[in-house]
Amino acid sequence: MKGPLTCDRRGPLRGAITVPGDKSISHRSILFGTLAEGETRVTGILDAEDVHSTRRACVALGAAIREEGGEVIVTPPEALREPGDVIDCGNSGTSLRLLAGVLAGVPGLSVLTGDASLRRRPVRRVIDPLRAMGADLIARDGDRVPPLVVRGRALRGARHDLKVASAQVKSAILLAGLRAEGQTVVTEPERSRDHTERMLRGMGVPLEVDGLTVSVTPSRPRGTRVDVPGDISSAAFFLCAAAGLPGSEVTVRNMGTNPTRTGLLDVLRSMGADLTVAGEREVAGEPRADVTVRGGPLRATEIRGQIIPRLIDELPVLMVLATQAEGRTVIRDAKELRVKESDRLAAMGETLAAAGARLELFEDGCAIEGPTRLSGVAVKTRLDHRIAMSMAVAQLFAGAPVTLDDVACVATSFPSFFTLLDGLCEGRR
Ligand code: S3P
Repeated sequence: MKGPLTCDRRGPLRGAITVPGDKSISHRSILFGTLAEGETRVTGILDAEDVHSTRRACVALGAAIREEGGEVIVTPPEALREPGDVIDCGNSGTSLRLLAGVLAGVPGLSVLTGDASLRRRPVRRVIDPLRAMGADLIARDGDRVPPLVVRGRALRGARHDLKVASAQVKSAILLAGLRAEGQTVVTEPERSRDHTERMLRGMGVPLEVDGLTVSVTPSRPRGTRVDVPGDISSAAFFLCAAAGLPGSEVTVRNMGTNPTRTGLLDVLRSMGADLTVAGEREVAGEPRADVTVRGGPLRATEIRGQIIPRLIDELPVLMVLATQAEGRTVIRDAKELRVKESDRLAAMGETLAAAGARLELFEDGCAIEGPTRLSGVAVKTRLDHRIAMSMAVAQLFAGAPVTLDDVACVATSFPSFFTLLDGLCEGRR
């Protein structure tokens, strides 16, 4: 789907669905499979543009990647090769930043770029720590934004104290550490998603976690089997819509419930949502469960501090939900939202205000007074999938049409989003 789209659905939402595979785990399964010794077989991988970007990059580095009977099979090269052309990461920050960590230690020249959104996103956060390991990287505008040029060379391990809790930065450093001489140690200010740690350990890498500190020594991962659970960041749109629409009941089956990702569930509970988590199980090192939300009255809440990295990608849709809760919801410590696929605080703040929300914006968050019956609005999606999908949810609370100027961005993470949403709207009959 491309171009403008007018949303005009009615809630409540009813039904049981599965959502596409977790984006973070999908990227890593292909990239780590490319670094490994022996084949990696992946089931449940996300089939969306961001993951295609990682896949194309890995093929450029010499991996052979094929589909067979519902599995994606990654056959790594003996040694990574110098890519023959610029690597276009499209809209995907995860592809670009993780690849920077890998390429820093691979002999040869690589150039990483992306779409207009990605070329506005900060890369100094990976350049500085990788340089401290001896890497040779430069980027546009005084090392601020892509394109990013990497000249691979021998690296040495180093200790890093991160200023922001970022799984992309942590992962870039750990991946560089796999090729560096000696030990590489990263300490985060708060815990960010730990898929890299779980997967690399599962692939036999000697990686240690001690509180907020992760350390690694040089090693080549072993090929493995990955079973990707449903992405909580995609499920979030339906769970939030259901929570705010009385009469709704939505179950998301086989949804990833890694504790570094489930801040959304904690917030829904604190808002008084009726939520049940059933059938908890762990497959291939990642927990998952069937999660059901029923609609009902919600109260305002505070979202700040350590929970932020555990729900960073869900904040746009939580801003939408806050407009439906009784009282003043406050979000703080979320400055990182300003450097995502768009400045999500500005984008959601301006758009929700135009739809009638009572909202105050801060540098690191916002306050939203509810409940408000939203009105229709024309949305600029700004090449940001989560703005588009969050405002499709807002439309359900508006009861009036919402026009999205371009929905092509939705395909970066969730091509089947509108089809699943239609199914849940029909499920109410
Ligand atoms: C991701 C980490 C997060 C998140 C992004 C995916 C990852 O970004 O927002 O969607 O897969 O490592 P940061 O590391 O920049 O916080």
